[in-house]
Amino acid sequence: MDEIEKLPGVGPATAEKLKDAGYDSIMAIAVESPRNLAEIAEIGEGIAAKIINAAKRAADIGDFESGTEIMERRKEIKKVTTGSKAFDDLLGGGVETESITEFFGEFGSGKTQVMHQLAVNTTLLKEYGGLEGEVAMIDTENTFRPERIVQMAEGVAKRLGMDINPEDVLSKIHVARAYNSSHQILLVDKLFEIAKERPIKLVIVDSLTAHFRAEYVGRGALAERQQLLNQHMHKLLKFATLNNAAICVTNQVAAKPDAFFGDPTRPIGGHIVGHTATFRVYLRKSKGDKRIARLIDSPNLPEGEAVLRITEEGIMD
Ligand code: GTP
Ligand code: MG
Repeated sequence: MDEIEKLPGVGPATAEKLKDAGYDSIMAIAVESPRNLAEIAEIGEGIAAKIINAAKRAADIGDFESGTEIMERRKEIKKVTTGSKAFDDLLGGGVETESITEFFGEFGSGKTQVMHQLAVNTTLLKEYGGLEGEVAMIDTENTFRPERIVQMAEGVAKRLGMDINPEDVLSKIHVARAYNSSHQILLVDKLFEIAKERPIKLVIVDSLTAHFRAEYVGRGALAERQQLLNQHMHKLLKFATLNNAAICVTNQVAAKPDAFFGDPTRPIGGHIVGHTATFRVYLRKSKGDKRIARLIDSPNLPEGEAVLRITEEGIMD
């Protein structure tokens, strides 16, 4: 309600009337007609029109942009390395900022390992494939391991032949446990606050879907679950655009028994994230420490696969 009161022409009394009438967001007002609003809030139609116009500006409905403008904006987009050249090439140079990249795959396919590596790499200098930034991680399964971050930071230092202080890397990774799906959603609001003080360039949600899956079971709960997940994703995407940050989320799916014949990237019960993610990467196990990443449904990159390895020193070719 606070944001409605901030609209010019809306005092506490009008705000209260609007709230009672069910206008609980700026967007709800932005799409209303002056006549209806005037009647409900008992104000003149002229004032109602002014409030609606202000709401339209504040609601960020979006606008049409020319291709040139979009091209210009896309120049701001940065990429963070995964640690594997083949994986980076598959992604068109690395994981992009201002987008959501979803990593899905069965247990042990390497989702959490890739998240740890991206966290380390985000702190690196740009010339080494980093974003010179800090990381916020929403950990829903208690799988964040600082020891693993240290190992990976040492691995990067060794490969680049430079000094990296693992303590320094650790201090730039901010982790919050999410105890249930509501808590997970609330933590995204907190993100916007942290970003005012810290240069958060990567947000990780590992796992995006586990709590939702566990809490919203049965057909009856499906619609609500989807709606909440969608809102959650859109908020993350907003964070990404406002902060020029990358968003990486994980989603565990069961491997399909008939993967050989069916499409292994269309797993049973796997599609609860829908189409909000810009990039979708399917990870699967291969021999030993090898993993295969496949890019799916990308707007501007060819579908393809890359082989990477999960080693003691981290993700590499
Ligand atoms: P779920 O969260 O259960 O869905 O799995 P996940 O996709 O997140 O898998 P995760 O990233 O946890 O991958 C686990 C695998 O990574 C292990 O089976 C190991 O093969 C490898 N791994 C994890 N930690 C280490 C480590 O410290 N050293 C090495 N060499 N490999 C590791
Ligand atoms: Mg995991």
